[in-house]
Amino acid sequence: MSEESRILPKNKKARLEGVVKAVLEEVKPTKAELEQTKHAINLIMERLKLVTPKNVEIILAGSVARGTQVRGNFDIDIFLLFPRSLDEKAMEKKGLEIAKRVIKNKDESYSIKYAEHPYTKLTFGKLGVDVEIVPAYKITDIKDKGTSVDRTPLHNEFISSKLSERQRDDVRVLKTFLNSHGIYGAEARIEGFSGYLCELLISHFGSFASFVCAAADVKLPMAIDALNKKEYASNSKEAKELAGKFNRPLIVLDPTDPNRNVAANVSDESLSRLAIASRALIKAPSKRTFYRTGYSDVLSKDKIAKIRSNLGLDLHLISFKLPDMAEDITWQQLKRLNLRLADLLKANRFEPMLALQSIDGTDGIIAFFINPGVFKSRIVKGPSVIMGSAYDKFVKSHGKASLLSLDKERVYSLEPAKYKTPHELLRSVISNPKDMMPSYIESRTAKVYLNDIPEQYAKMLYRAYVEKSATS
Ligand code: UTP
Ligand code: MN
Repeated sequence: MSEESRILPKNKKARLEGVVKAVLEEVKPTKAELEQTKHAINLIMERLKLVTPKNVEIILAGSVARGTQVRGNFDIDIFLLFPRSLDEKAMEKKGLEIAKRVIKNKDESYSIKYAEHPYTKLTFGKLGVDVEIVPAYKITDIKDKGTSVDRTPLHNEFISSKLSERQRDDVRVLKTFLNSHGIYGAEARIEGFSGYLCELLISHFGSFASFVCAAADVKLPMAIDALNKKEYASNSKEAKELAGKFNRPLIVLDPTDPNRNVAANVSDESLSRLAIASRALIKAPSKRTFYRTGYSDVLSKDKIAKIRSNLGLDLHLISFKLPDMAEDITWQQLKRLNLRLADLLKANRFEPMLALQSIDGTDGIIAFFINPGVFKSRIVKGPSVIMGSAYDKFVKSHGKASLLSLDKERVYSLEPAKYKTPHELLRSVISNPKDMMPSYIESRTAKVYLNDIPEQYAKMLYRAYVEKSATS
């Protein structure tokens, strides 16, 4: 990323600034929203103080504390800072207990979420806010870190001291841009850019415009040392060393902890999507390129049918009811099952042209687009005839085959295929999954569809299909 690559011609720069301004008008929290949030925070803080021991500090963290939240699309993050002397299990337990006691009315509820440590998510109906209550250790030096969220108050300090008002707005614009292109959030489903990473990138590059110019022609690996305001280009010794150390092509060192890469969860695909989206935005700055082509999921079933008929492929879809737990976990399990099924299909000559998955609440789907066709018979290779006992065993177990024959010294059988179609294979695996299923996915909740799928799953699938697209 050379210095000159960041310079846009004047007319483009003005247009990009116009887009940023227009977007900001849509995503900067309104006065009313800010008031409402403040009111909710005060009330919740009051309630928390009543049930929290004196030696536990209550702080507001995350985007609301830093003034980088996006209108209508944020949560309130409250951290409970416990003394470092407490052991982890006790801290977790205490944290959950305190959070539960904040719930007072019918329109309020809580649920426990599982990350590295369990935390509580509170939903306040009338106040109109979601609040996360996260227990952590109170530390002033990163050396004392016990859990990864212990860094958060230090993040607060760093970002609060570095970002100007204008830059906070640019963080909001960047979050919206990344969100529009499906790459905002560090969770497993997205593998994109976290809120804190957005803040560091704006702080480092100075503005949204400079960042997208840099991202448009990024050469990897790239390393950013936000604390020392340094950037290492792809051919530098430092970038190569850091890429080796963290085993990722994008490294953004956490200013509060030099051993942490804040961009650790950004996948190669997300980096590619960022480059495509940034190039499109710079080439023709407009709300359309900023927000990506709008799409609607009405008539998803028809849209899926059209995709199928254009490609001449069969759609094989399996739906599951998932347990109500952290989506990061169910997503990864669904991914694992997806890969296993794809391997099995391939081994039976049903190669998926496209494999997708999606989760919506407790609904999960896996979908394969496969060339239609029927394989009525198959060849099973046996052992060498020289291996007497192995030969006997093979003949015994394949003796009923249509033809037992020889290929040089090896015996083989030509016999009816075990699975004549991918549909047969998938139904058989689902009814008798053996050790195929990851622990939280239950095969008894599964349904296997061929081409004709319920509208609800069509919507999920169509969204996944659009998100997979490589154009912006
Ligand atoms: P959030 O995911 O809520 O991010 O994490 P955010 O910055 O508030 O962004 P939005 O606006 O809600 O989308 C809250 C804080 O928790 C810390 C970060 O400091 C973050 O700002 N955090 C979060 C971590 O340290 N590690 C994580 O994996 C996630
Ligand atoms: Mn947040």
